[in-house]
Amino acid sequence: MAFFGIRKPAPAPVRETRQPPRHIAVTMDGNGRWAKKRGLPRSAGHAAGAETFRTIATYCKDIGVQYFTVYAFSTENWKRPQEEVDALMDLFRKYLREAAETMAARGVAVRVLGDLSPLPEDIRELIRETGRIADTLGEDAATASLCINYGGRDEIKNAVRRIAERVQAGELDPQEIDEGTVAGALYTAHLPDPDLIIRPSGEIRLSNFLLWQSAYAEYYFTPVLWPDFTTKDMDAAIDDYHRRSRRFGGV
Ligand code: IPE
Ligand code: IPE
Ligand code: MG
Repeated sequence: MAFFGIRKPAPAPVRETRQPPRHIAVTMDGNGRWAKKRGLPRSAGHAAGAETFRTIATYCKDIGVQYFTVYAFSTENWKRPQEEVDALMDLFRKYLREAAETMAARGVAVRVLGDLSPLPEDIRELIRETGRIADTLGEDAATASLCINYGGRDEIKNAVRRIAERVQAGELDPQEIDEGTVAGALYTAHLPDPDLIIRPSGEIRLSNFLLWQSAYAEYYFTPVLWPDFTTKDMDAAIDDYHRRSRRFGGV
């Protein structure tokens, strides 16, 4: 800008300083359609989707995303054929075992969120084991959260129940209940709210994912089926996120 004949020097080229979103969440959808397109059983789509989870979780950690959360099995997914549910449980076994073996070396704390009570006992034991290992990793470790038998409404219902029990026990005055009390009673008590929520597969709905936590999340919908989702798709979602203006109700 010229001002009284003095020309302001051109600004130095800025280095890429944009921070990635602190917390990215993904609804891993489209596995069944991916398999159908190839004439494969739905279980093959879930196996491919699980590989994508591994790739994208690693990528998120590498680019500095502190928290990565995925929706793997909803409270409604029990309605599926037993064969499909069994195949999904087998995948949870496989990936939880792998997580237990590798998470310390990779510096990623793997945690499972949801109502774990109806899961097979061996899976619950694997979840407890990964939780124990995650507890030994420092504050700086990236966190990958796997939502299994997770439902946003179920989570809020359980939180209400826990808060009511504290009131009944005389530990909590109802007048003291604030948003922090509710947030602290959710499965995600230890996580910041998601900044970016991605839903692949072309569906434009929440399907009961992170209902409370998504109040000010930025959503990104893409037709790509989850098993086809690549690090380039993640880059595109993050680029889109950086073009948003987050106002949180302000101006
Ligand atoms: C997501 O893929 C995985 C789970 C819900 C467990 P889907 O199995 O829902 O795949 P589509 O939606 O049928 O393609
Ligand atoms: C959401 O996908 C749940 C998971 C991806 C784990 P669904 O496939 O179950 O959701 P709807 O039925 O299309 O809403
Ligand atoms: Mg689906």
